[in-house]
Amino acid sequence: MKPKHFLSLFDCGEEELHAIVARGIELKEHQQTGKSHTTCAGRVLGMIFELRSTRTRVAFEAGMYQLGGSSIFLNADDTQLGRGEPIEDTARVLSQMLDIVMIRASKHETIAKFAEAATIPVINGMSDLLHPCQLLADIQTFIEQRGPIKGRTVAFVGDGYNMCNSYIEAAAQFDFQLRVATPRSHAPTYLPAESRRHVVLLEDPASAVDNADLVVTDVWSSMGHEQELDRKQSFDGFQIDSHVLDNANPGCLFLHCLPAHRGEEVDEFVLDDPRSAVWQEAGNRLHSQKALIEHLLSVD
Ligand code: CP
Repeated sequence: MKPKHFLSLFDCGEEELHAIVARGIELKEHQQTGKSHTTCAGRVLGMIFELRSTRTRVAFEAGMYQLGGSSIFLNADDTQLGRGEPIEDTARVLSQMLDIVMIRASKHETIAKFAEAATIPVINGMSDLLHPCQLLADIQTFIEQRGPIKGRTVAFVGDGYNMCNSYIEAAAQFDFQLRVATPRSHAPTYLPAESRRHVVLLEDPASAVDNADLVVTDVWSSMGHEQELDRKQSFDGFQIDSHVLDNANPGCLFLHCLPAHRGEEVDEFVLDDPRSAVWQEAGNRLHSQKALIEHLLSVD
């Protein structure tokens, strides 16, 4: 039987996703009240990072430890991956030694190939296409701060890249309306059929944010695109500051997956605006990823 993977939000049903988010909220309470939750005792998580990370790595490593298991950090430089061992061969080998694997790779295809060959669950820790783990934390944060997200209006302003694509999937899976505002040159090219009735593509940030319940942005130069010099020019007018949030619903929430570039997609102040929950969002990576590991290992 094929293992359960999490490469995309569409790898889970709506009920499964809601259960993972609810469990993340519960695990946060356990963590904060000191209640033991060592549901993964004796289990080992492998973490393959082709690209750098702070939040994803620490959340998975600390999370696995708190669940009673352990984790191994692997990168190309220190493994045979760096000497050209095929990703499928690596998947076959690691499947016999580990219980679950997380991969962050520059190409989504690498993660898909690994998952195809693996006989243990595989988690997408971010690719050029999607960042589904971040969405679990974002949805948990919205629910904690503002209640159910179903039927709400979400504005994604910025680059139509992996975070935007995962919001496009989330709109279908969590049943909200998504307005995406990007420069025409950076509009998302990923629009699955399931999401079409939930998503509007715009080029004007003000129209997207108007009366929105949640405003989200991400860096203008994601990992691997830092050298593209014309980006700042392309995104002129797409910066989020408190005045932009003033046009949203008065009870709106602001999220950013971090790291943020102050002076580019955000001004100096908006991350600490009372409507921002970016620090809680980052912290929720820990709890939501623990819930995801439990779910994929069927120990929840
Ligand atoms: N948001 C996010 O994935 O952060 P890291 O790149 O630090 O893991």
